[in-house]
Amino acid sequence: MAAGAGERFGEDRPKQYLPLLGRPMLVWSVGRFAAHPAVTSITVVVALGEEDRAGQILSEHIPDKVGRIVAGGDTRQQSVSLGLRSLDAGSKRVLVHDAARPCMSDDLLNRLIDALDECDAVIPALPAVDTLIHEQDGVVDAIIDRVHVCRVQTPQGFTTGLLLKAHERAASRGFTSSDDGSLVYALEEPVRVVHGERTNIKITVAEDFPIAEAILEAQRKK
Ligand code: CTP
Ligand code: MG
Repeated sequence: MAAGAGERFGEDRPKQYLPLLGRPMLVWSVGRFAAHPAVTSITVVVALGEEDRAGQILSEHIPDKVGRIVAGGDTRQQSVSLGLRSLDAGSKRVLVHDAARPCMSDDLLNRLIDALDECDAVIPALPAVDTLIHEQDGVVDAIIDRVHVCRVQTPQGFTTGLLLKAHERAASRGFTSSDDGSLVYALEEPVRVVHGERTNIKITVAEDFPIAEAILEAQRKK
């Protein structure tokens, strides 16, 4: 998913096109999938009008691996939905990933793919480690018990039919969410949770960039 505008990042172009250690963030994110033997095709969803530019960047860095480049929508949910609808009718399983998480490891991909052998929906999550509060008007309004609270990441894995159904249902009911697991949960279908990874950070604001570069550098040395 690379059709966002990166407003919180605050650069003149969307964050996924900015260079991280010399390669656009999009290339790092897509590259993880391109290098994995279980991934048979890759669809990249970009903003309407960015298809050619994204195609050039990807074919320069990852020739032969990217199948389709599809125009996304106004929200992430719409972008995912458009991407899903562009998949081949025979698609059985799909992993949905945000270009904003370029540091995802092969280990995480393997955990998700293995889980998909046994379930129809799987998401990576990490237990909350900070104390959690509800804040209102600059003061603590409530304390949230963090025992069962987790932070959810991408990639998320699904049987394609189930995720399509979840998106159709959400669209028809006007239900929106920032991830896909929530849409399957709303169908009252089970969503398995596997352990995420602390290094799979989401790049949201400019301060996240040097952290991602340090993570990628460390991964390169492994
Ligand atoms: N995304 C998308 N289509 C949208 C909005 C977001 O494909 N209409 C993608 C982004 O490109 C990103 C992922 O969804 O990879 C998660 O979104 P987020 O981190 O919020 O990125 P942006 O929406 O680009 O950033 P912002 O919300 O700050 O504008
Ligand atoms: Mg956004």
